[in-house]
Amino acid sequence: MRSTKLEVRELSKVFRTVEGREILALKDINLEVLDGELLCILGSSGCGKSTLLRIVAGLEQPSAGDVLINGRPLTGPGPDRGMVFQEHLLFPWRTVRQNVEYGLEVKGGPKTARAQECLSMVGLENSSEQYPKELSGGMKQRVGIARALANDPAILLMDEPFASVDAQTRSDLQAMLLTIWWGTRKTILFVTHSVEEAVYLADRVILMGSGSGHIIDTVSVDLPRPRYRVSPEFNDVRRDILKRLGFLTGE
Ligand SMILES: Nc1ncnc2c1ncn2[C@@H]1O[C@H](COP(=O)(O)OP(=O)(O)OP(=O)(O)O)[C@@H](O)[C@H]1O
Ligand SMILES: [Mg+2]
Repeated sequence: MRSTKLEVRELSKVFRTVEGREILALKDINLEVLDGELLCILGSSGCGKSTLLRIVAGLEQPSAGDVLINGRPLTGPGPDRGMVFQEHLLFPWRTVRQNVEYGLEVKGGPKTARAQECLSMVGLENSSEQYPKELSGGMKQRVGIARALANDPAILLMDEPFASVDAQTRSDLQAMLLTIWWGTRKTILFVTHSVEEAVYLADRVILMGSGSGHIIDTVSVDLPRPRYRVSPEFNDVRRDILKRLGFLTGE
């Protein structure tokens, strides 16, 4: 049996606006993620997906509840977690290789070799000396992924990483991510608002209610890989998720 890698217990997050209004971004989130699992977090804008990921990354403090990694309470950011953002957030004055090396600088060690290794994993081994402005959107996202992989984190946290690229690039990036996941057996938390993306990637999908900040359902995707987006089985899972999200009330 696979062990539990990450546990979220009774997690809540309240934000206070400058006018003193309270926003309940997360409410009583309970979650267990297995070692090596690819978990997608699906929900519409504002349901708290990024907040959940940022808390797990240690970038944000919860208002209540706990996050445990390997059974130990989280204390802050750490090299055991790598984060990939929707916006690539690369340093424009650094080359691709230097951007990937950035995370490694705090740790020391043979930076260039590791950066090159990570760039190969994302298919950018020949672009290491280019600058971000010379890259396409899809290539920038690849650099962001290579950077997140640099410290060889056990957990990858990905916040809508493929949301702003075209459909073909998106499906290339999804296939690449599955290859990396398969090769490294990392635990991945992948935030998306695309039902198709979640069904294509996930072992399990967590559905978050719109504007409510809580988990409304969990769906296991038991389709073999590679998955075909046009297969009847794929469509069945997609329809089931849409129904649970309340989008197919007429059926
Ligand atoms: N720093 C903050 N201060 C105040 N409110 C915040 C802050 N960060 C997030 N919120 C609020 O918390 C709620 C959840 O935000 P969050 O960014 O987690 O949603 P999301 O599901 O990631 O949305 P999207 O799909 O648009 O990225 C929203 O109502 C948002 O306005
Ligand atoms: Mg978000």
